[in-house]
Amino acid sequence: MFNSQSSRLAQPTTLPDFDRPFGLPAFNSIGEAISSYDGDDAIYVLYPKRIEAAADLFLKRFPGKVLYAVKANPHPAVLKILWASGIRGFDVASIREIDLVKSVCPDAEMFLMHPVKSRRTIRHAYAAGIRHFAFDCAAELGKILVETDDAEDLHLHLRLALPKGGSASMPLDGKYGANYNDSVELLRSARSVAAKLGVCFHVGSQCMDPADYIKALSYVHGLLETADIRIDSVDVGGGFPVAYPGLTPPPMQDYFARIEKGLKIFGFGDLEIIGEPGRALCGEGGSTLARVELRKGKDLYLNEGSYGSLFDAAQCAWKYPVKLHRDGQASDTSTGYRFFGPTCDSLDAMAGPFDLPSDVHEGDWIEICHLGAYGQALATDFNGFQSDTTVAILG
Ligand SMILES: Cc1ncc(COP(=O)(O)O)c(C=O)c1O
Repeated sequence: MFNSQSSRLAQPTTLPDFDRPFGLPAFNSIGEAISSYDGDDAIYVLYPKRIEAAADLFLKRFPGKVLYAVKANPHPAVLKILWASGIRGFDVASIREIDLVKSVCPDAEMFLMHPVKSRRTIRHAYAAGIRHFAFDCAAELGKILVETDDAEDLHLHLRLALPKGGSASMPLDGKYGANYNDSVELLRSARSVAAKLGVCFHVGSQCMDPADYIKALSYVHGLLETADIRIDSVDVGGGFPVAYPGLTPPPMQDYFARIEKGLKIFGFGDLEIIGEPGRALCGEGGSTLARVELRKGKDLYLNEGSYGSLFDAAQCAWKYPVKLHRDGQASDTSTGYRFFGPTCDSLDAMAGPFDLPSDVHEGDWIEICHLGAYGQALATDFNGFQSDTTVAILG
């Protein structure tokens, strides 16, 4: 991905060079992938069909344009799978994400929806053909105008701070977004300089209540009445959830239905509607295979941890679905385990509990599922533990 291989510690990973759909070594099953592997690191797994199914659902049912939020998983194979599924728009945040999307999907439309960008990023984006820019204050709007030479073809998106009290498991309200009064002023000042003007918001990631989107649209409605400004677009952001143990959301269709209802009630039917799902497009389509290096009672020491793809399992105590992969029988009684990652840091611990057969032992592989979003994307090479191995499981 972004780090060049040479700047990372080398670890031999030896997978046979099979036919490579989406540029990945591909297998029919996890068992096949494990038995073909003699590396020492964790293995990242993508299930192209699941990602295709998620994209298909959004493309058919989301009432607007669907952008993929690249940050959720920037692996080139994910971008290729989504492009092949019909996703044509990408929400990017940085020069590297812009260049990545350009190299993998040269005809993609990109939206730079990060509310705070360096001047170089703005120049780079405009030169790369990006016309969609988010901002949440006058200073950022000024930067965009200066660095694009007062371009007359900008579609500007004002990022709103939503009132507190949403249902998201990962609130995103602490950092970005203009408050109500500032939004009124910013909409008025941006109107005259924008070819197109819109608002955008984020209800928070892993939003558990579809009503949050209606509340957000109601807030937008009130704001526009006060500002007395015509806008061209509403971007409802990301936040669409996937299922994790203890975090089972309502069906995705309920989210789309609420958004559609809100658009109708508040008279936004004629506006361009945009969504930026990250998690919901790739979360269930990826997992991590981690090997047990040692068992101490109910504690499993793995070759993957919070400095790898398990950041949220540690920091947010999320319990991902887990599966044991072993060539042979496993006990049919289960035990709730804690996981520890391979680094020396005692923060590299995942409380779980993760339910697995009671006879887990050294050498077993554990699949930590629904980690396709914000898993591999967050992994570091701290302490020399990293994985450069991603495989596709077909079927
Ligand atoms: C601007 C923006 N758009 C989209 C997303 C994707 O959110 P999610 O993965 O919750 O769908 C994020 C996540 O942080 C974001 O900051």
